[in-house]
Order: sequence, then structure tokens, then C-alpha cells
Amino acid sequence: MARILTGIQSTGVPHLGNILGAIIPAIKRSNLKGNESYLFIADMHSLTQIKDSDELKKNTLNTAAAWLSFGLDTKHTVFYRQSDIPEVAELAWYLSCFYPYQRLTLAHSFKDKSQNLSDINTGLFYYPVLMAADILLYDAEIVPVGKDQLQHLEITRNVASRFNNHYGDIFVAPRAEIEKNSSYVIGTDGNKMSKSKNNIINIFQDDNLLEKQIMKIKTKSIAVEQPKNPEDCNVFKIFSLIADERDKIALGDKYISGKIGFGEAKKILFAEVKNKFKAERARFNFLVNNPVLVEKELESGSKMAKSYANKVLKRVRKKIGYNK
Ligand code: ADP
Ligand code: TRP
Repeated sequence: MARILTGIQSTGVPHLGNILGAIIPAIKRSNLKGNESYLFIADMHSLTQIKDSDELKKNTLNTAAAWLSFGLDTKHTVFYRQSDIPEVAELAWYLSCFYPYQRLTLAHSFKDKSQNLSDINTGLFYYPVLMAADILLYDAEIVPVGKDQLQHLEITRNVASRFNNHYGDIFVAPRAEIEKNSSYVIGTDGNKMSKSKNNIINIFQDDNLLEKQIMKIKTKSIAVEQPKNPEDCNVFKIFSLIADERDKIALGDKYISGKIGFGEAKKILFAEVKNKFKAERARFNFLVNNPVLVEKELESGSKMAKSYANKVLKRVRKKIGYNK
């Protein structure tokens, strides 16, 4: 039995890319029997970017509601909020005393932004250490992440081994697990969908806004009656990711035979998104309007996480020489 743990950024409402690329595969994996699964909302990491307390709170609610609406089963997964277990900050401090400053300056999360050092807060520099603590605090063995997080996993392994070399075996060395299907969902401009690019599709918003986003999808200018290559169309590409095979073939045929314009194709995609995610959209709405229910889930997850975290922390404190 392996302990799987991963953290989710809470910097906005999860978009279609996050849903297809992260939420659905992670829920499938966490429902596999025989594994122990930990999933948390990394709201302490969010503070490196978000300083508005209402926004920070709202992002946590939206993120949690999105995961729950897609069927995250909190009986099988310890689902918690990072900031509910401030012990993680304590462990991060211990780890930082074992990790060379020079090496941390090489982390991409910091280096990519370091041209403009005056805009960087110390938290952003320290980000990978907090992430290492997130993982080591729960003896996680497998950490599913996107490719961009691999370096952070290397840092985690490295600091764990420095600690272990010094104090004897104390931490489990975690292994990163990269999603095999690494293809990404495109956004409305045809590039990778990302909240930083103003190209997202937010399936949870109301119909009007959702329709507007879908109508914004970039298409070529080809007359309605002209045959079109479906594989070369952003609308069709997104449709293919969610529709079943029969509908995909039917729409593809219309493209090839020049029986459809892009405007109509967008309307079909809009209808498909609404139909495909009908239950999830309704659940999401219900949960964000009943935050107490989400809070209850997070609180019970946090209780379990805290109890495990304290066991590990006790082990660490003792080794360091503190009297607890
Ligand atoms: P964003 O690029 O919008 O900031 P994040 O970096 O917060 O998204 O990604 C959160 C998770 O969602 C990661 O596991 C990432 O791999 C996945 N993800 C993000 N964008 C996409 C996308 N366009 N297609 C597939 N998966 C994605
Ligand atoms: N940094 C991760 C990301 O941007 C989120 C995260 C925080 C995380 N702590 C973690 C992921 C621990 C895995 C394990 O996606």
C-alpha cells in the first residue's frame, strides 16, 4: 500500500484544463483500492501571490467545491487545507536549515522571476522548502505532479536525504509520478489553457458567461459551405476531449462535407459542455452556496492530517534535540 499525496494551487476557479488534466485523473487514481490518498489545497503557497483575504478564502472554497463536485470521495481521501496544519511551517523551517541557500536560488519558481528581484517576496524564494515540508510531513511515497513540479520533487528528495544522512533515517524519500497522458487542453486562443493567459473555459460560471467564452474560441475564416479539416480547428479539438466517439465522428463528418460553420460548431460545443457537466455544475453551485458543507469536509480532513503530521513532527523534533 502506497501513500499518495498531492497539493493543489488555489489561485482561482479550476478551468477545463485543470479539470481534464488534473481533477478527473486524480479522482480516478484516488478511488483505486489499496492506496492511501492525501490531497490538500495549498493556500499557504497562494499567499505568495494573493494578499486579498476575501479572494484567498473564495479561491479555497471554489477549488474545494470543484473537486467535490467531480466526485472526490473524502472517505477514501484525506482532503484538507494546508493552512489548517501550521505544523508544516515548523517543518519547513527545520528543512531550510539543511538546504543550501545557493541551491535554492536555482529553483525555477524563483529563477524565472528573478530578473525583477524587487517584486519577489521571500515566500516565493522559500516556496520549494514549504512544498518539501508538505510532502515529508506525511511520509508520502508517491507525489503526482505536472512536469513543471519535478524540480521541486528533486529538492524534496535532496533535503530529505541531507536530513537522513545527518540524523539517521527519518524521512521517506518521495517519488514523483507524472501523468502519462501529458497532452494538454488548449484554451480559447489555441495555446495551452492557463489562468495566466486569459484563454480559459470556466465550466462553472452561468450559461451566459460560459457561452461568451466558448464563442471567443479562435477559428480560421473559412466560408460555411467550404469543407474544413476538423483536426485543424480549436472548437473541434476541445469538443473531442469531452464528447463521446459517435458525436465526435458526426461532427467531424459535418466539417469535412462543408455542412457546418464555426459559429454553429461553437453552439454545439456549448451544448455539449452543459450536457456533459450538468451534474457537476449543479453540485458546484450548491456547494458554493452552502460553504458550511465544504468547510465540514475540510475540517474533518484537516483533523486526520493534523494527527499524522504531529506524529512525524514529534519524530523530527526529538532527533533535532528538542524536548518534545
Ligand atoms: P494554470 O496553468 O492555469 O495556472 P496550474 O499550473 O495551477 O494551472 O495547474 C494545476 C493542474 O492542472 C496541474 O496538474 C496541471 O498539469 C493541470 N493543467 C493546467 N493547465 C492544463 C491544461 N491546459 N491541460 C491539461 N492540464 C492542465
Ligand atoms: N507547487 C504545486 C503546484 O504548483 C502545488 C503544491 C504545493 C504541491 N505543495 C505540494 C504539489 C506538495 C505536490 C506536493 O502545482
